This record gives sequence, structure tokens and C-alpha cells, in this order.
Amino acid sequence: MIRPTVWIPRRLSDATLARARATYDLIVKDDDTPGTADEIIAMSGQVDAMIPCHSEHFTADVVARLSPRLRIVANHSVGVDHCDLAALAAAGIVVTNTPDVLSDATAEIAMLLMLGAARHAVTGDRLVRRGEWTSWSPSFMVGKQVTGSRLGIVGMGRVGRAFAAKARGFDMDIHYYNRSRLPADQEQGATFHSDLDSLLAVSDFLSLHCPATPDTRGLMNADRLAKLPAGAVIVNTARGALIDEAALLAAIESRHVAAAGLDCFQVEPGGNPSFAAHENIFMLPHIGSATVRTRDAMGFRALDNLDAFFAGKAPRDRL
Ligand code: DGY
Repeated sequence: MIRPTVWIPRRLSDATLARARATYDLIVKDDDTPGTADEIIAMSGQVDAMIPCHSEHFTADVVARLSPRLRIVANHSVGVDHCDLAALAAAGIVVTNTPDVLSDATAEIAMLLMLGAARHAVTGDRLVRRGEWTSWSPSFMVGKQVTGSRLGIVGMGRVGRAFAAKARGFDMDIHYYNRSRLPADQEQGATFHSDLDSLLAVSDFLSLHCPATPDTRGLMNADRLAKLPAGAVIVNTARGALIDEAALLAAIESRHVAAAGLDCFQVEPGGNPSFAAHENIFMLPHIGSATVRTRDAMGFRALDNLDAFFAGKAPRDRL
């Protein structure tokens, strides 16, 4: 049987590469830099499949120039906002993603960001690390208590539910906004809001877990940030596009939003340099799913999808 050829633009885990090599002829981009539009287009004439990450952009312009040889884009990501799905479908290219396997790792980072933002992790680390911790007082670095507080979750999909499970360990009063109400076994006592504004009004902590789509871009704009209770803390591990960053900066500067924990930004890599002056913005460089176990699981899930496709079956995660 002829072995399909697969392009892997980013450095995937060793276990993923070893498994992939057993079945496929691989072309691996060794410098581990994002695949450019020109590289994606050029490689499409040499391979049957690609395993890209969210750093490779399949825009309508790129898709229009792809070779008909390329049959499947098996994403190594759950988010697919880097793919023009309509254009890929029109070109007859199958697209898959890697849901489920990164929910816990991402929820861990959301918890880290929520705790770190609420309890002044950036300032505290800076004081101790630089030898600037010279006094203590009962009024020193007083933060906002997470335990028992109200938490609003936007998007109660797999990651949202994994985060809710962890937040229950902190006795949080969980509220959520979702396209539809969850069944009781998934809701687990959380309060459903059919209206986003109604969720915002009760969210002393707010965590975003919805995909970036044309409908959700700029979701947290100035109007919506204003609807949060004064002193709210906002967490984003989903996509930078969900937050109007200028509006968030204004809300932080006015102290209406007490703190933010951000793992994703409108511009990546790099983030928003204007945030750096504010130690109540706790930032990480898009590492929600970055654990050894989860990277292996993402790679294996992408390969499961490829294996099914080339075996003539429906890939489990076809979009
Ligand atoms: C995802 O899978 O969408 C994560 O953001 C990492 O790419």
C-alpha cells in the first residue's frame, strides 16, 4: 500500500512523531516556525495531508491556491479559527480538530490565571524575586477571595465544564451562558443564563471558554465590561479575539475590572505591550494545553483522525 505523505510544520511531541513515522512519510519543518501562506501553498503540492497548529492560517486566499493533492487538514488544536472552514469544504478538503484531550490542561491554566490575578501573583513574585519585599502589614497585597465567590463561565463546552469542575473545589457559585442549557448531569447545579448580560451582572469572576467566530469577536467590549460588577476579575484562555483589548485596558485603568488573567491575545506571539505596565494583569504565552500528557494526546488524536481518513472511514473529529 502506498504510504500517504504528511507535512508537519511545527515541532510535535516525540511520541507523536514516532507514531506518525510508523504509518506515514513525513515532511517535518525543522525550524519550528509558523508555516507561512507560501509554505502551506507550496507543500500542498507535495503531500496528501497536513497536521498544522493554530499558527498556520488557512485563509480563503490560501485555500484558493492549494493543490488538489492535499486531501485532509488534521489540526493539532481544538480551536479552528485559523481555518476558513467554508473555503476548505468548498475545496473538498477534510478538516478535523482535537477536542476533549486538552480540556483539563486548559482548565488548569484558567484556574492558575484566576488565582494569580485575584491574589496579586505578578506583584508578589516581583517583590520577592527582586529583593524588594521589605515590609509586611495586614493591609499588604490584599486580594480578592476566590473561594465561595460567584463565577460566570461564557461557553459551557468541554473546557468550560472542566473549569467548572475545578471551580467547584473552591466552592464557587457557578453561573454560565451557553447557546443552550445543559442537561442536569452536565450542569451539576450551575445556574444557566440565556442572556449574556444577565450572566455578566453576577460575574465577580468571569472566564471565557467559547470559540472565536465572527459572532464572538470583540465579545467583551466596553459595553459588556461595564456590565460586570465593579471589581470583577476576567480570565481568558480561549482566544484573544474575544476581548476588545483597548476596552479591557480602560476598564483596568478605571479599576472597574480589578484584575485580568490572560493566556491569549489579539496579537500572538507577542501579546499586548500596553498590558505590561499593569501588574494586575497576569499573563501567560498561550500555554493552556502545554503539558507533556496533553501534547501527546493532541498529537495522537490528530493521527487517529488521519488514520481513519486514510482507512476510508469518517474521522471522529471531522468538522
Ligand atoms: C487549541 O488547541 O486551540 C489551543 O489553543 C492550542 O492551539
